[in-house]
Amino acid sequence: MSDTDQGLARGLTNYGDRDFSVYLRNSFAASMGYSREMLKRPIVGIANSFSGFNNCHRHFPELVEAVKRGVLMEGGLPIEFPTISLGEVFLSPTSLKFRNLMSMDTEEMVRAQPMDAVVLMGGCDKTVPAQLMGAASADLPAVQLVAGPMMTSRYQTERLGACTDCRRFWSKYRAKEVTTEQINDIEGRLATTAGTCAVMGTASTMACIAETLGMSLPGTAAIPAVHADRLRAGEESGRAAARMVRTPIRPSQVITAKSVENAMRVLLALGGSTNAIIHLTAVARRLGIPVSLEKLNALSDTTPVLVNLKPVGTNYMEDFFFAGGVGAVLRELKPLLHLDTLDVTGGTLGDRLEQDAGWVDHRVIAKAAEPLEPEGGLVALFGNLAPRGAILKRSAADPKLFEKEGRAVVFTSLEDLAARVDDPDLDITADDFMVLQNAGPRSASGMPEAGYLPIPRKIAETGVKDMVRISDARMSGTAFGTIVLHVSPEASVGGPLALVRDGDRIRISVKDRRIELLVDAAELECRRAAWVTTNVPAAERRGYDRLYAEQVTQADEGCDFGFLQPVNEDT
Ligand code: FES
Repeated sequence: MSDTDQGLARGLTNYGDRDFSVYLRNSFAASMGYSREMLKRPIVGIANSFSGFNNCHRHFPELVEAVKRGVLMEGGLPIEFPTISLGEVFLSPTSLKFRNLMSMDTEEMVRAQPMDAVVLMGGCDKTVPAQLMGAASADLPAVQLVAGPMMTSRYQTERLGACTDCRRFWSKYRAKEVTTEQINDIEGRLATTAGTCAVMGTASTMACIAETLGMSLPGTAAIPAVHADRLRAGEESGRAAARMVRTPIRPSQVITAKSVENAMRVLLALGGSTNAIIHLTAVARRLGIPVSLEKLNALSDTTPVLVNLKPVGTNYMEDFFFAGGVGAVLRELKPLLHLDTLDVTGGTLGDRLEQDAGWVDHRVIAKAAEPLEPEGGLVALFGNLAPRGAILKRSAADPKLFEKEGRAVVFTSLEDLAARVDDPDLDITADDFMVLQNAGPRSASGMPEAGYLPIPRKIAETGVKDMVRISDARMSGTAFGTIVLHVSPEASVGGPLALVRDGDRIRISVKDRRIELLVDAAELECRRAAWVTTNVPAAERRGYDRLYAEQVTQADEGCDFGFLQPVNEDT
């Protein structure tokens, strides 16, 4: 047998005696109670990111049984294995710091264990990009199966869904429009079922991107976690993976420059999460496909916003599912898409869109001829404050703040922000620009979702709902506001954001895609000469923290690790 043999004969453990390796593996596998006949089957691994620290994956024990059923139906042997899980709100300092660790775990376990194809079970924000990154690098036939979104709940007469409503009610609580008793009641009603956040946040955006890339089965991204169709999607994903053993379709055939461009179009049409551009960049770069923010702007100019979901609109993921889901969006975008891209079934996007569209609720998914917005939901801004770019979610921002100059009020860290933002003596007005430094990928805080800086309490209490906020942090996909994020290079490595001081003037122009610090170059050079990083040097760290500090790239490169990029075979 060779290493390319199927099933248990793949990738043998090295004892220096090949036949002994086969004999020993068969013996130990038999100890798990499999018959000889089962052990001869091709193996479909199931990367299960279930964890007691991940509420979004609560239903995976039931879902994994459906996947196994599907694999068995196609003559494969399903073998489940655990990987790291990333429960968004259970990780410190932030889940993004561990996305690359999960991608390494996924890649290495897919490669090291004997499997012929794999189903990747993920859902919560960073898990799907981590699995796609790992699968892209391992390049074994793989099907992404997402958790599916939570169902909404109720508070009195209002529908509630995590987590746009979490933030909305928290803002009201800070503005004293909601009492402590009410916020405690609401806390227990925001997330009440299994599944990922109920709006077009990062998890849902990444689910739609996975389907658009072709890595998930058509029609599966938006099925609610607790819907019976989710189990059928699990079964079908198991079948698809087992079929791919017979006719291999590798991630490198599915994730291509064309499918990545389609995914960027869908991201823009969804008014999707700003995090998704970082994740899509990281996934694409694993296969040597560059994603530039200039390209994002070019696509944004010609891609309408079509989906009326929170945080940009009014509906929830369950509405999106019943309205037609990703398929309906793809049909509206059809003239803008590459139709010869492959999905994990072996079909093309063109084939898929030939099929009957079914009923579409155009109150949730607008027609391209009557879009919610004529241009895409995200734009990149460039200028002397962000030479490598920054992101603004235009569709979730207040257009009155798009062409504006303001005075900077600077917070030098998250700790500084927490200590001073509600100080009644803070010198700030609603027309000022709040600036947060040292919250980028290499900072001690690890690029948290802190870019949604709270409006200072004394301003919030006057009814102000939005201000210009600028940082090198990220923002939750469920948040909203005129928030400039991912400023690159970041402050903690000496990017221009580090040089901003209280009272400086900053100008943003969404129309011109510009963000400028209006301080003359000589003064900036003086400040640069005096700048010192607040980061603990990598050499003084240990373990994963050190690896992260040494290897993480800037936001415009996807915040991946440098050494996880493909090796250039020409060099
Ligand atoms: Fe898991 Fe929001 S907390 S998707």
